[in-house]
Amino acid sequence: MRTETPTMIRLEDYRPSDYLIDRVELDVRLHSRETRITATLAMRPNPVGRAGAPLVLDGEDLTLVSLALDGQPLCPDAYGLNATSLTLPNPPSESFTLRIETQVNPTANTRLMGLYRSNGVYCTQCEADGFRRITYFLDRPDVMAVYTTRIEADLDEAPVLLGNGNPADSGPAGDGRHYAIWHDPHPKPAYLFALVGGRLDRVSGSFTTMEGRTVDLGIYVEPGQAARAEYALDAVIRSMAWDEQAFGRAYDLDVFNVVAVSDFNMGAMENKGLNIFNDKFVLASPETATDADYANIEAIIAHEYFHNWSGNRVTCRDWFQLCLKEGLTVFRDQEFSSDTRSRAVHRISEVRTLRARQFPEDAGPLAHPVRPNQYAEINNFYTATVYEKGAEIVRMLRTLIGGQAFRTGMDRYFATCDGTAATVEDFLAAFEAVTSRDLSAFARWYERPGTPTVSITGDYDPEAKTYRINFRQSLPGTEGPPLVIPVVLGLVGPEGAMDEARAERAPGGVFALEQETDTLTFSNVAAAPVPSLFRGFSAPVRVAFEATDAQHLLLLRHDTDPFNRWQAAQSVGMRLVIRWAGSDSPEAAEADALVEALGAFLDAEALRDPAFAALILSLPSEGDIANEIGIGSAVDPDAIRMARETLRRRIGERLSDRLAQLRGDLADRPGTPFSPDAASAGRRALRNAALDLIAVADPIAGVDLAGEQIATATNMTDRLAGLGVLALIAGPQREAALKDFAERFRSEPLVLDKWFAIQATIPESGTLERIAALRQHPTFSNTNPNRVRALIGSFSSGNPTQFNRADGAGYALVTDAVLALDQSNPQLAARLLTAFGSWRMLEPNRRSVAHKALDRIRSQTELSRDVSDIVTRTLA
Ligand code: ARG
Ligand code: ZN
Repeated sequence: MRTETPTMIRLEDYRPSDYLIDRVELDVRLHSRETRITATLAMRPNPVGRAGAPLVLDGEDLTLVSLALDGQPLCPDAYGLNATSLTLPNPPSESFTLRIETQVNPTANTRLMGLYRSNGVYCTQCEADGFRRITYFLDRPDVMAVYTTRIEADLDEAPVLLGNGNPADSGPAGDGRHYAIWHDPHPKPAYLFALVGGRLDRVSGSFTTMEGRTVDLGIYVEPGQAARAEYALDAVIRSMAWDEQAFGRAYDLDVFNVVAVSDFNMGAMENKGLNIFNDKFVLASPETATDADYANIEAIIAHEYFHNWSGNRVTCRDWFQLCLKEGLTVFRDQEFSSDTRSRAVHRISEVRTLRARQFPEDAGPLAHPVRPNQYAEINNFYTATVYEKGAEIVRMLRTLIGGQAFRTGMDRYFATCDGTAATVEDFLAAFEAVTSRDLSAFARWYERPGTPTVSITGDYDPEAKTYRINFRQSLPGTEGPPLVIPVVLGLVGPEGAMDEARAERAPGGVFALEQETDTLTFSNVAAAPVPSLFRGFSAPVRVAFEATDAQHLLLLRHDTDPFNRWQAAQSVGMRLVIRWAGSDSPEAAEADALVEALGAFLDAEALRDPAFAALILSLPSEGDIANEIGIGSAVDPDAIRMARETLRRRIGERLSDRLAQLRGDLADRPGTPFSPDAASAGRRALRNAALDLIAVADPIAGVDLAGEQIATATNMTDRLAGLGVLALIAGPQREAALKDFAERFRSEPLVLDKWFAIQATIPESGTLERIAALRQHPTFSNTNPNRVRALIGSFSSGNPTQFNRADGAGYALVTDAVLALDQSNPQLAARLLTAFGSWRMLEPNRRSVAHKALDRIRSQTELSRDVSDIVTRTLA
């Protein structure tokens, strides 16, 4: 590992592979340190490649044991070998067979790419480029082959052996060993390859597809954990049914397996027929998982399952097209969750995630188009932009062309691209074909980084009874023609929605803003209205519209669009906090119009839709506020926190009676069994939001109430919410509660992660010492990504005042952690380093301290490509 000038890979340089691989036979003999892999590849020149070109196979960290071409062993001077490739200078001009024997060490594989061992379980991760760590290969997604895999292992060590596709054979292999053969009839790129071997328990289910295929379902978990996989199994079954009904997509193999492992760099992976998951997104019980965990499990199970069509049956031509599968699949899992839970509540949480993760990325040095046009390290492009903004583009497309045309276009996309490695152009072409629309202007969304701003003014003409809305879109920093922005909108008057108002150019309430400036006129407007703009957050933009607090609060009360009701409360809160953050003496009473409106809202609606009410009570996060201020580049996280706490305290003080009453009204009757469903989760969310506000206003009462809640909690959501309240109130009760928690869950790694995380996010100067001590804790380990993220990632992303300490100690903590990890797990190290992505919007002192911390990383002599790529771009 050495810092090299990174080679940029560019979209414009794409050319098809010179060779193809039709069939792959793998024989994998698992041994903890010396695993042998024999790959037999049926190959041929690609008719559209360069005739007679050398054959260059990718390889990394491999020991080549033997190589044979068409049965003839090749001696070392017949091929070239270096650290990243194996080259045959003159391969045959007709079909040929290459037999490659390699050896790898799964135990030493700390990068968690390729074949590795997690808690004694053999598993693989091949996306984006991990298959080359198993054998030499054309490791690119447009080379698709049919795989047959024989896996052999000690029966004792690995009684369970799983591969892609359907099981074909299994039996003893002598010497205490056994084997299993798996065959996957669907041609696939190498990144979808997987195998698993280990001692695992299984939860079984079955699903019959609409085509009449009976599918055996299996969730594999560490011994003893089977009961905690029931929810994931149920989510698989519901996902399968939903994809049939919503998209007409049926499953296409006889088995579908999910394996949970404890060491995993990302969330999960959609390997064909054999999804491998971070166990955090599989295992759940009321005692150990929060409502948020249940929702994540459901969403990620769905996401990986949906990839079977959007990703596997139709895959990506190259990694620049990553959003083709990820953006689309996030859109699909969001739709699933919306149908399963509350659509309005889910939409708000999608937008919160987008604003928390994607907006800052798009506003900082790591900004990139949804379809990047160059990269040095592809694993650094599994970003919020590719995933979340990618999903927003698909949603905008549906908004513009309508639900029915969208479904027809999706059908056409699947039909025309099935079995191929496709591009964004192929995707859009399907919708152009079914709508006869030209989507070339819409396609700019894939090319242009940055969050556009849409500035809006409105004027009412009481004589003509018209309301004109003037739009101007801008996207500073990138040159180019305007974007196509769907604006879902309507007018709201003092009595509520003004349904009689009409705008010809906004059929069905959808206006397409296609020019830099445009004007939309509503007629038949009886009184001066308030416009409700970008309903449902119809485009990933910032909206600049000068409304008064009273106008926002009218929307909160009367709008028919739940997203904009929530947005209205956010906007008023945002404006107050920003004003206070810039002033020495915030006048808390300025919040009282908002507080009163919140109170009225709670009285009228809290019990009807508690989940929604909990969101209405939530204020913009400190990060949201920083990001909003950041446009002017002088973020002081301490001032933001102080101002935001002032507002929270005011709300808590003024509404304390109502909040206390709500807590009582929402309490479960004793003996009510736990249910993770959305309605029950919503009641818990509101109850805990109330507790939180009561506690900010009155910490002494807060300590008692939180302590009592912890003492009587029957589920992790309530227990953790209680602990979260206590964590913000320094004192012996907090320390005692933390100690009890650690004791109670000492053998529950996923729960201990929560314990690490909650301490890392305490916004006090002592947190640094606390984290230093936690890094020495016997259960802390740099080899478990979940644990590292729980301590270091939670600190950098969830503790803005301490991460951004003016003395630079917070930055030093994170950069130390990055460097300590870089040799062993560069992907994880690079991910942690992205915490510095917003450093340029800080006030000058912090900016310079952050700069120094980044410089220290850049000046290291031995950096992985992953970290070097992030640090270079962050400083650029
Ligand atoms: N395709 C996986 C998903 O469903 C993510 C895999 C990312 N892996 C990586 N090494 N970058 O989102
Ligand atoms: Zn995905």
